[in-house]
Amino acid sequence: MMNWVVGSDHGGFALKQHLVAMLRAAGDVVDDVGTDGEASVDYPSFGAEVGRRVAADPTGAVRGIVVCGSGIGISIAANKVPGVRCALVHDAYTAELCRQHNDANVIALGGRVVGVGVAEHAVMAYRKAEFEGGRHARRVAQLGGLDPK
Ligand code: RB5
Repeated sequence: MMNWVVGSDHGGFALKQHLVAMLRAAGDVVDDVGTDGEASVDYPSFGAEVGRRVAADPTGAVRGIVVCGSGIGISIAANKVPGVRCALVHDAYTAELCRQHNDANVIALGGRVVGVGVAEHAVMAYRKAEFEGGRHARRVAQLGGLDPK
């Protein structure tokens, strides 16, 4: 069982809804911060809200998923929050690697880029993967050193 915070703009809304349902069906707890429909909204606030909730979790176990049309804008927004390592993923390979090597605590997907099947596989690959530590831990610590103090 995993705990997630999920958010999107209108460009990622349909895919977000699909992923929320998939994760809940798998037994996970999902906190959906919106958006709640197809109406046009601005992605920065949704990406930042997911990032803040992930970064604020004292256990460090909460993971985030952000979705916009391309995945780009909302990943930039999430990455503005200190402590967030958001990876824009396109498939199961990048999703698995971002956990194993980068210890990404948020993943971003493009609702207009990847199909539902590819997105499902990506999220499930990320869900299953584990951080490998070792030399990667040194590099991830260096990433943390780049956060504003
Ligand atoms: C919205 O049209 C679109 O710009 C947004 O979903 C996202 O792709 C931005 O990076």
